[in-house]
Formats: sequence, C-alpha cells, structure tokens
Amino acid sequence: MAIRLGDTAPDFSAPTTQGDIDFHAWKEGSWAVLFSHPKDFTPVCTTELGYTAKLKAEFDKRNVKAIGLSVDSVDDHMAWLGDIEDTQGIAVNFPMIGDPDRNVADLYDMVHPNADDTLTVRSVFVIDDKNKVRLTLTYPASTGRNFDEILRVIDSLQLTDTKKVATPVNWNQGDDVIIVPALSNDEAAELFPDGWDEQRPYLRVVKQPG
Ligand code: BEZ
Repeated sequence: MAIRLGDTAPDFSAPTTQGDIDFHAWKEGSWAVLFSHPKDFTPVCTTELGYTAKLKAEFDKRNVKAIGLSVDSVDDHMAWLGDIEDTQGIAVNFPMIGDPDRNVADLYDMVHPNADDTLTVRSVFVIDDKNKVRLTLTYPASTGRNFDEILRVIDSLQLTDTKKVATPVNWNQGDDVIIVPALSNDEAAELFPDGWDEQRPYLRVVKQPG
C-alpha cells in the first residue's frame, strides 16, 4: 500500500551502519529524510550520499536527521563508505539501513517492479517531528536527486506550519510568500500590519514573516 501525505510513517527496527535502530525512537523529536538508493557501489548513489553528508549542518539547523537505505547489507554499506569519502571528499555522517530482506523497502513501497523488481528506486520521505509523512518523491535509478530541493521543501513546510502563508513557485527562504486564501483580509491585517500586494483577491503577496 502506497504511503500518502499525512499518513503516520510506519515504524520499523533495522540494522544500520551506526547500529540497530527503532525508527520512531531514533528520530524522536526530529524531522527525518528517509531515502532509498538502488544499489551500493554505483556512481549516482555515491554522489548523492556524499552530497547529503555535506548538508549535515543545514539538516541540523532545521532539526532534520537523514537516513539512507538500500537492499544491500550493512557490511556492503560499510565496505562502500571509504569510496564515498575518497571520491566525494566527505565521510558519510548519517546511518544507512541494510535491508537485504526488503523489510523496510516493502513497508515503504520502495521497490517498483515495473522499473526493477529487485532494487529500490530513489524514494524520499520527509517525515515531521510528529511522525507524519509530509513529502514523498520517487525518482528513477538513472537520475540523481536534488537534495537542495528537499531542503527547500522542508523550509516551506516548517514556515507554513506556523504562519498563515503558502510559498509560491520556485520560492526560496527569504522570498515573498502568499497569504493563505482561508484568511480574510481583516484577519490578514492583524497578522500582516505592513500590508500586502493584492494582485487578485486570492493572490496576496507579502514579505516572508518571521
Ligand atoms: C547509480 O547509482 O549510478 C545507478 C544505480 C542503479 C542504476 C543506474 C545507476
């Protein structure tokens, strides 16, 4: 069964490169980016894992923990780590789940048989601090993901969770945002006393709050 936005992220126990974890306990109080890659010792995956390691300070700022997965074993992951560090210039600083029995891959529907019946595709789940699934992405094996985009979505989610705004196309942190349509102009005036640019009654552009 596919996992949908708003679902509670399924809990699981699994071995990782940083020891055995219970997922919900491991991420307790944090957001998580749970992502799968097709296979160890492959080029695109090597670049993705290195880049994700480089984003650690950005993840930390947002209270996010990254965790990777493939259907390889923890021993295979461990053997690959040196190559990632050598070629990407950084050590992998987050756990990688070993899932040779596909327990977690099946739980999260990460194997798409019409793409490949044995390997995980490039799935991403952004899960919030209440264990709710907030973003799902599925990329093919041949296309490396844009992890800056994943950070951008987390920024949007964390902003729009607390302010009555939504973020427009190609928004980045600090750019103008949109007042949610559910807010009346009277209510908006309370929250945005400096006013807004009303391009249409439903399109009210305002400086990013907070
Ligand atoms: C890669 O990570 O380079 C890759 C993995 C599986 C299929 C194609 C590419």
